[in-house]
Amino acid sequence: MAKLDGKVAIITGASSGIGEATAEALATEGAAVVVAARREDRLNDLVGRIEGDGGRVLPVACDVADEEQAHALIQRAKDELGSVDILVNNAGVMQLSKIEKGLSDEWRTMFDVNVMGLLYVTDAAVQVMKEQGSGHLVNISSVAGRKAGPLRGAYSGTKFAVNAISEALRQELIEDNVRVTVVEPGAVETELTSHITDEEAKEGIKSIYGLDILQAEDIANAIAYCVTQPERVSVNEILIRPTQQAN
Ligand SMILES: NC(=O)c1ccc[n+]([C@@H]2O[C@H](COP(=O)([O-])OP(=O)(O)OC[C@H]3O[C@@H](n4cnc5c(N)ncnc54)[C@H](OP(=O)(O)O)[C@@H]3O)[C@@H](O)[C@H]2O)c1
Repeated sequence: MAKLDGKVAIITGASSGIGEATAEALATEGAAVVVAARREDRLNDLVGRIEGDGGRVLPVACDVADEEQAHALIQRAKDELGSVDILVNNAGVMQLSKIEKGLSDEWRTMFDVNVMGLLYVTDAAVQVMKEQGSGHLVNISSVAGRKAGPLRGAYSGTKFAVNAISEALRQELIEDNVRVTVVEPGAVETELTSHITDEEAKEGIKSIYGLDILQAEDIANAIAYCVTQPERVSVNEILIRPTQQAN
């Protein structure tokens, strides 16, 4: 029997990168996975692969920054698969620039997706988990959630918020038997950097993203570890950098 047999795991931002790899990893562990993102074509490709490997998967088109869509995602998981055991809050955007550039639309997008989106999905999931008397929230933060630095002020602000929200949730939900894990990756090879518009920032990240950086599977494996521990074990925080990354 696989470790997550009978469990339902929802992964936001599953259309690429860390979310996609995590959906595959948790399906391999036996979970029925709900894969959510805006790009339905990419979700359908993933569905084909997971089903091809014998997994159970439900794709849901969802913009997590829309509160109604975020709540509907959780409702569909519960209605169609019966429970919400694991939520991986992974959907995220990183648009780096110095604050002085005033790219307020990009700040808004990052806070809407990385913070408000996480809160909307979590709020709905927590209602179900409290009724069940069990659950596991995995929030994807970043090294930038522990250290601020030039070019990443606004992005770091969103990820510091993710860490603060995660610790508050951990304490709020102890009596409900809901575990909370925050995962803080360093540089990972995904599409994340492709949304940066600021030329100075594109240049600035080369010193880190030009290294032998992590693969999405490296983070997916860490998440799979966290959610397959015995119920008494709550892995609260995991920080993973590429071996070559200094900061
Ligand atoms: N790559 C890194 O170096 C790194 C390092 C530390 C932390 N992280 C964090 O890891 C998480 C995953 O990022 P990634 O590296 O895998 O990048 P990615 O390949 O760009 O994936 C981001 C995912 O988020 C989804 N997303 C974006 N906006 C969304 C919205 N409004 N509603 C629903 N889904 C949305 C995207 O799907 P759609 O566009 O299809 O909606 C995509 O599936 C993010 O939270 C990121 O901050 C990444």
